[in-house]
Amino acid sequence: MDDTCHLYTDLAWLWPMWGDAATEYARYGQHVTGLIRRHAKRPATTLLDIGCGGGKNVLNLKREFDVTGLDLSPVMLAQAKDLNPDCTFLQGDMRTFKLGRTFDALLMDDAISHMNRRADFVAAFRTAYAHLNPGGVLVATPDVTTETFQQNKTSLTSATRDGLDVVFVENVYDPDPADEQYETTILYLIRDQGRLRIETDHWTLGIFSLDTWKHVLHETGFEVHEGRYNQEEEVYTVFTCVKTG
Ligand SMILES: C[S@@+](CC[C@H](N)C(=O)[O-])C[C@H]1O[C@@H](n2cnc3c(N)ncnc32)[C@H](O)[C@@H]1O
Repeated sequence: MDDTCHLYTDLAWLWPMWGDAATEYARYGQHVTGLIRRHAKRPATTLLDIGCGGGKNVLNLKREFDVTGLDLSPVMLAQAKDLNPDCTFLQGDMRTFKLGRTFDALLMDDAISHMNRRADFVAAFRTAYAHLNPGGVLVATPDVTTETFQQNKTSLTSATRDGLDVVFVENVYDPDPADEQYETTILYLIRDQGRLRIETDHWTLGIFSLDTWKHVLHETGFEVHEGRYNQEEEVYTVFTCVKTG
């Protein structure tokens, strides 16, 4: 099955309904802020959110930092700007962007899953490193690692807004656990005033072991600190990576 990209293009208007920015993302923002404050070897005032999507993390981090968001999708960037008119947003590919400036802190959250080949994964961290000030901190949170992946796991989220009832059905499946990819398939059940429309997305995402994460981050030049973050029943690994040089 070919990959699609509706959630970041024609169906991007659904993204604000899939997890509330002000409430559901707030605790993660506090966690990221705490890690940066604890590990930074310089005062941290500027932060770049790499793969900022609709700007939900930006909404929570901008209370503490001067935040810039970067994303590949112009539609997601427009949404992020609507939510955060006071922040700067730039279009770029996380593997190759060159902003000509550096930041005290970087965040790489769920967007890193889209690095589905080892070369892209490595390139994303090298590019991030080049945009970090010495003594600065990158916080990177894998959605899944080989150790936490649950075959055929299916999650449901329901949301209602402005006469729309939407259900997000998300299934993850790894057809070949020996390689570094897995599939996410999403069904969108969209009822507008009760009339049903069904849309789908299918993504090939990257999955790496904890050892691979640590190896790649270390080879990039970072001092790596591994921690955990709990959200509902999920436990995420969080890497806090310091640019010591
Ligand atoms: C799930 S969204 C991120 C949502 C974000 N955490 C938020 O706070 O709203 C994933 C994002 O990754 C972006 N993305 C995918 N590949 C990318 C790449 N190569 N470079 C930059 N962004 C990319 C997509 O455009 C999408 O907006």
